[in-house]
Order: sequence, then structure tokens, then C-alpha cells
Amino acid sequence: MKNEILTLKKEKNAVILAHYYAPAEVQEVADYVGDSFYLAKIAKKSTADIIVFCGVYFMGESAKILNPDKKVLMPELTADCPMARMVAKGEIERMKAKYEDLAVVCYINSTAELKAQSDVCVTSSNAVSIVKSLPNKNIFFIPDRNLGSFIAERIPEKNIILNDGYCPIHAAIAVNEVNEERKNHPGALVLAHPECETEILEISDYIGSTAEIISFASKSTADEFIICTECGVEFKLTSDSAAKKFYFPKTRPCCTDMKLNSLQKLLHVLQTEENEITVSEEVREASLVPLAKMLELAR
Ligand code: 13P
Ligand code: SF4
Repeated sequence: MKNEILTLKKEKNAVILAHYYAPAEVQEVADYVGDSFYLAKIAKKSTADIIVFCGVYFMGESAKILNPDKKVLMPELTADCPMARMVAKGEIERMKAKYEDLAVVCYINSTAELKAQSDVCVTSSNAVSIVKSLPNKNIFFIPDRNLGSFIAERIPEKNIILNDGYCPIHAAIAVNEVNEERKNHPGALVLAHPECETEILEISDYIGSTAEIISFASKSTADEFIICTECGVEFKLTSDSAAKKFYFPKTRPCCTDMKLNSLQKLLHVLQTEENEITVSEEVREASLVPLAKMLELAR
């Protein structure tokens, strides 16, 4: 299957992008593997005719918004991020009416419709620096309450209004299970994604996006780590640092949507060019503004 994928990819001038949470065999055949920010930048500058995005829907959708002339396919169109729509209807308008200088900051893990109502997008790797750079004092951060409070703690000069969305996978990581791993591996450093609940972040030695966690582990002089993010990162962690040990909480954090990607489905969409992402021109134009602003501010 891998050979067929690689042959078809060449024939059709396609590029395969995969998030670190995609299954290992999918990461293995991808041209680019990374976190949301890296993949958005790659999608923006791609010269391929077809982009196959092995991730969840908002990622493929963002690739299409940033690069509308390309055909963007996903191995599984139903792979969705449940957090992407966790903003109550009318909440953005309500906040805009309440605060005159409000900036709506939208985590990239959101629908194009939510992005379209926002001023700027962020990812977990650039959220703090982008929010810091905004002139507005009042910030409505959607949809993730955990990334929002992580930012609020680092930028006390701003009034960051939180929204009650969350990632069901990261929010389910339990403190007692992390403490259990710490007891079993006393020298290990705890590395956490900012989508984890505050109690997890408080006992972590390092907090960062998936790419930042992977880079921290490979550069660190420590050789044991407790990983508080989705288990797909294990593939890159162990291939970068084979001699190091990585432990996950007993209930392994696993994003079932990301795991809907498979070699079989990847081959199928390359063969048939099915599962194309479409975004209406009206929504695309409006959601491009905050996405483009993110890329510009993060530069
Ligand atoms: P990254 O920004 O680290 O890629 O995270 C994306 C994500 O979906 C986390 O759950
Ligand atoms: Fe969404 Fe959480 Fe899955 Fe990331 S891990 S794609 S935030 S459900």
C-alpha cells in the first residue's frame, strides 16, 4: 500500500500532510508531519496540485481556506475535532456588544464559521506571543478554556474572557494517573499540551504544542518523560530519541477522530480524488482574514 501511495502521489503531483496524532503508518508515508501551525504554513505555500490532509476536519478546511486553488482531500471527512464548534450560539455577538475594544481570538481548532467571526487565529505554539502583540485589552478567547487560561496566566495585563470549550481527550488526562507515573519514574519530566486542565499544567515541567514537546524532549538532558498529550506523538518522540523513555498516563490519551486516518483510506482518496473539502466563497473570504493575520503576526 505504501508503494502504491508513493507512486500515485508522484503521478498526481500530490503532497501528503499529517498531524503528529495521525497513526504512525500514516506519518511514515507523509511528506510533512507536524503540529497545526507548521502544517498550516506548509499548506499555504504548497505548489502541489493536490493536498491530502491526514488530520481532522478543521485542519483540511484551513488548508483549503489558505490555498483555494488546490484540491484538498482528506482520507476521512468525518474525522472531526469535537472542540471545533464548542462556542454557544450568539456568544461572540454578546461579547462584542459588551466590550468596545474586544478582540475575538480563535484557536485554529474551530470551524470556518467561527473563524469568520474572529479577528485573529492562533495555534498552541503561537497563542501567547500573538495575544501579547494585540493592542486590545479585552480578549474573547474561543473555543478552548484551557489554552485560554494558560494564556491568561502569562499575559496578566489583558482581560482574557474564557469560553467553556475543551478537548475531551486532553481534559480527560487525570492528575492521579500522572502522579502515579511520577511515583513510578521519579526522574521523569512531565511534558504537557496546554489543552490539559490547569491541575495537570500545574504539575508539569514543560508546557507546549505537540512540536514543542517533541523538540523539548529531544534537546533535554533528561532521559525519561511523562507525556500529557495525545499518544500519536510517541512515534516521533521515539524515532527522534530512541534511547529515551516516554510514559503516558495509564488511560492512554487517544483521539479517535485522528485515528480514523489510515493507509487504506489515504490510498483510496489518492486513487479516486474523493473526499474533497469545499468552503463557500463567502465563508472562505471571511475566515481567511484571521488565518492570514495569524501567519503574519507569527512571522
Ligand atoms: P497542536 O497545535 O500542538 O498541533 O495541537 C493540535 C491539537 O489538536 C491538540 O489537541
Ligand atoms: Fe480535537 Fe482534542 Fe482531537 Fe486535538 S486531540 S483534534 S483538540 S479532539
